[in-house]
Amino acid sequence: MAEKMLELQNVCKTFNPGTINEKVALNGLNLTLNAGDFVTVIGGNGAGKSTMLNAVAGVWPIDEGKITIGGVDVTGLPDYKRASLIGRVFQDPMTGTAATMQIEENLALAYRRGKPRLPFKTQISKAEREMYKERLSILDLGLEDRLTAKVGLLSGGQRQALTLLMATLQTPKILLLDEHTAALDPKTAEKVLNATEKVVSKAGLTTMMITHNMRDAIAHGNRLIMMSEGRIILDISGEEKKNLTVETLLHKFEEVSGEEFDNDQALLSK
Ligand SMILES: Nc1ncnc2c1ncn2[C@@H]1O[C@H](COP(=O)(O)OP(=O)(O)O)[C@@H](O)[C@H]1O
Ligand SMILES: [Mg+2]
Repeated sequence: MAEKMLELQNVCKTFNPGTINEKVALNGLNLTLNAGDFVTVIGGNGAGKSTMLNAVAGVWPIDEGKITIGGVDVTGLPDYKRASLIGRVFQDPMTGTAATMQIEENLALAYRRGKPRLPFKTQISKAEREMYKERLSILDLGLEDRLTAKVGLLSGGQRQALTLLMATLQTPKILLLDEHTAALDPKTAEKVLNATEKVVSKAGLTTMMITHNMRDAIAHGNRLIMMSEGRIILDISGEEKKNLTVETLLHKFEEVSGEEFDNDQALLSK
């Protein structure tokens, strides 16, 4: 039996309960990820994809259910007490890194997170710098030769790739990617996705990647889940995943949910 890395059991979350803005975002969600699973997550706008990742990260308490990460019950833990288990990258290339700091300073900050022994002021040893170079070269974006460049000079794609590296520098139990290439042009998005693939496979990271692009969801990872109304309505892996097409996915969605897929971007992208 493969090791369970993430388990969501009957997770429920309602926003603004008891008001006219009440919204059931997660409705008895169940999901188990094995160590090394790379799961792509798709679903229409408002399906609960980001809310699922926020529940894992502990952004707010869930109403019902249980969440374990790497065998640790984190259900009652606030976000900062489970942060060391999790790596996250969001959509906006400007948010994950500090623009006025150098590439190696950004990496050093990520490396020092939760390690009080290391001086906070960036004193970077030779060995550490070599380690950064090696990690940066995995991205295949030429950043390994620009350690002292200010991050503000980098492109959006380079910044997202650097954010990804920072999020995984301390090998999290689970990596959460929320449309981390959606703000990039198609060519750059492709590069960042390739970098993601390399970083994930190199460390064997258990990963959830939300994307609005069905082709990307099919092309990456070993498993694909589709969400609708706060639940998982499709869970496809193995050979079936490899043989998927956008057409089959749309057909399956309509079959299972009884409605049409409402996310125009999914159809229009690429
Ligand atoms: N912090 C919040 N406060 C109120 N409603 C929220 C909040 N976060 C999400 N929602 C609502 O929950 C539903 C699911 O949202 P979300 O998980 O962001 O969808 P997705 O990422 O699949 O597009 C939506 O109706 C959204 O408006
Ligand atoms: Mg979202």
